[in-house]
Amino acid sequence: SIYTDYFFDEAAFNTHDGGYVPLEEPDIPQQPLRVPPLLKPDKETATDTYYTVEAQAGETQLLPGKKTKTWGYNGTLLSQTMVFAKGKTMHIDLKNSLPELTTFHWHGLNVPGPYTDGGCHAPVYPGETKHIDFKVDQPAALLWLHAHPCPSTAEQVWHGLAGTVIVTDEQEAKLPFPRNYGVDDIPLVLQDRRFHADNQWDYNADYDPDGVQGPTAMINGTINPYFDVTTQRLRLRILDGANRREWRLHFSNDLPFTQIASDGGVMPEPVEFTHLMLTCAERAEIIVDFGKIKPGQTVTLYSDDVPLVRFRIHDYQRDDVTLPEHLVDIPDPEVTPGTPVRKVVMSGMDEQVMIDGKKFEMQRIDARQKVGNVELWDITNTNDMDAGMVHPFHMHGTQFLIVSRNGKAPYPNERGFKDTVGVNPGETVRIKVWFEHTGVYMYHCHIIEHEDGGMMAQIEAYDPDHPKTYKLMDMDTL
Ligand code: C2O
Ligand code: CU
Ligand code: CU
Repeated sequence: SIYTDYFFDEAAFNTHDGGYVPLEEPDIPQQPLRVPPLLKPDKETATDTYYTVEAQAGETQLLPGKKTKTWGYNGTLLSQTMVFAKGKTMHIDLKNSLPELTTFHWHGLNVPGPYTDGGCHAPVYPGETKHIDFKVDQPAALLWLHAHPCPSTAEQVWHGLAGTVIVTDEQEAKLPFPRNYGVDDIPLVLQDRRFHADNQWDYNADYDPDGVQGPTAMINGTINPYFDVTTQRLRLRILDGANRREWRLHFSNDLPFTQIASDGGVMPEPVEFTHLMLTCAERAEIIVDFGKIKPGQTVTLYSDDVPLVRFRIHDYQRDDVTLPEHLVDIPDPEVTPGTPVRKVVMSGMDEQVMIDGKKFEMQRIDARQKVGNVELWDITNTNDMDAGMVHPFHMHGTQFLIVSRNGKAPYPNERGFKDTVGVNPGETVRIKVWFEHTGVYMYHCHIIEHEDGGMMAQIEAYDPDHPKTYKLMDMDTL
């Protein structure tokens, strides 16, 4: 069957928040979609990959006329795509060439916290280079890199510090998915911006504690893009990289598409849609089959009724690949006996946002969970339908499973690994959580201004046989 609604079909902007900024179609000529090039390793062996990731400031031609001042990784905006092959050991130099402190957070990566994970306890000061090493030990997925210095994560991401990471593994490599990067397999980073005088961004002028938005969609750092399609099937690795915006995606003429992967990897079964909603930081990999579209035609991807990307269909070779009904097995471990359900409450809007009635404090550990224990967490959004927002709940250091929404089955595309889940107003989402590595990890709302505003807490994943202490930053040491 084909799902034809967004599941949560309440347009949050209509009923809940007067501050919502609707998207507008840009009135500049169409431009070719930027596809981030693959980052060239400094060195690569059969077992090890070495990268340098440099955060830097620069200027990017986004609109006709003046260039926009932007930040990026190994470039002036966003990043080049990094490939982490499962089983390999990665060695990454993190270089900060910005005028201020930043951190390098690997969103969705299962690595020890808090330093390798790169949240707010792992600052890299201007002019400094730090080094991390880790083994890639999780399924193939689209992850992302973004800045995470508290409390200026939102502003740094707005400047452009967000990048794409593709984890590969042997299991995904055997599935009949397009994977010719840049041709039939491309990332789509969905963001929105407002352009001020001289084509510049002005974070402070646009500031909204419920999340900064702009009326102009920016896709992979391109305004008003088109992409030339030369294959029948196209794989889009979509990331909601916006500070606050939800994307309500569909194609022209309700062309159906198939979701094959969620945040943490390939889903057990493909799910067919005509409409798909993504909340902040969520990923969906979809395959679009243009087999019924004639060369010369254009298929447009929209959010609501605003065009995001125009896919110009060229001649392609017929492709009769069909996806298997079952893609991968997802482990579903038993809950560790005797562990109570952990409750997490996300409340408030604007400056009042909190987790469990508290604002984030860098030096306070809010919860502890033994490594290897499998626990249920109930995440509640106390906002209601009259005055509320979807809070996308994100955890560092783990990929979790979604058990239920208000006691009912999760959405059909929520049966795979997730690290971010949209919790709707008045809803409790039950998730199953376990940690494989020790560390202090953040969990928070991924409306980034809510995170910076204190809707964040941290948990220590601990191993009782190997107790550890951590150097936790605080505002003063920053
Ligand atoms: Cu996408 Cu705390 O991060
Ligand atoms: Cu994260
Ligand atoms: Cu929120």
